[in-house]
Amino acid sequence: MTEQSQTKAQVINRYIPSILSAKESAQAFAPSNIALCKYWGKRETELNLPTNSSLSISLGHLGSNTHISHAHSGIDMVRLNNKVQDPQGSFSRKVIAFVNYFRREQNIPLIIDTRNNIPTAAGLASSASGFAALVLALDDFFNLQLTPQQLSAFARMGSGSASRSIYTGFVRWDMGEQADGMDSVASQLPCQWPELCIGLIKVSSAKKPVDSRSGMDRTTATSQLYSNWPAQAGADLITIQRAIESRGFNAMGACAEHNAMSMHATMISAWPPLVYWLPESLAVMQRVWQLRESGIAVYFTMDAGPNLKLLFERSSQKLLEAEFAQMDVIQPFADE
Ligand code: DP6
Repeated sequence: MTEQSQTKAQVINRYIPSILSAKESAQAFAPSNIALCKYWGKRETELNLPTNSSLSISLGHLGSNTHISHAHSGIDMVRLNNKVQDPQGSFSRKVIAFVNYFRREQNIPLIIDTRNNIPTAAGLASSASGFAALVLALDDFFNLQLTPQQLSAFARMGSGSASRSIYTGFVRWDMGEQADGMDSVASQLPCQWPELCIGLIKVSSAKKPVDSRSGMDRTTATSQLYSNWPAQAGADLITIQRAIESRGFNAMGACAEHNAMSMHATMISAWPPLVYWLPESLAVMQRVWQLRESGIAVYFTMDAGPNLKLLFERSSQKLLEAEFAQMDVIQPFADE
């Protein structure tokens, strides 16, 4: 941490009363999200403060449901998808450490039950929706009445991309500039796009060898290409937001795909190299490029893993479902 850096506890403490009053139970849902303009790299790692602003689309009703209640046994219990988690395991430790920023020294043992309804076949990360749902549930459980900006900032401290999962629809996370990060928060864009579809193509479910957090750190520390990334991401964000506002599908898709490929170029040029692609990922990319050559408006984006997310409009859905038999289709605005 640099000299002016602040810890999560210091920042969160300022907004939480020292004596908490807890409800019987609370429950919250937060959607998963996919970035069209990626967050890649931190200017400050303790608070997950990014080097660039990013823009995502939330996945409607797909995400995490978190329920909090009192543990009458006197010992915290963490459940994930109906399974009690090992208290020493990494999931429980992450959840409890985060809850402790709110609960501090107070003896309020809790049962924290998280259920993800993201299809397991989809190959999507759940940390964004998980931390966002946890912050929303804590806010309700302790009746904190945090503002949307504070909720987004606290979710970001759990995982950067969770700052965007506080909202549905299109969401922009502004990088901010304050040392305490309270201006590094997301907000919803007032835009709908009912025709927009996202196709999830899972090519592997193996645990990724290097998670996003370490991948980002390695890239910023060792890739010479990274120095160009913040400026490109800044320009891409403007292009993508304008394309969304004017419903320019090709402009939006092309810029999102270019942004993802540019992020992967910084990963590939890290040392040791970070290549998240598998041969099957490349085969899907090549098929997408062929389909585009033949006049079909389809683009892809990819995160720190081998799976692809296709972007297309409803008019191409049937054709693309026939092309990619293993694809799960999400219509982010269908239920709104
Ligand atoms: C490639 O939000 O998982 O998906 O802040 O370290 O928890 P931490 O990282 P995380 O990184 C997401 C990276 C990405 C791009 C994105 O979602 O914007």
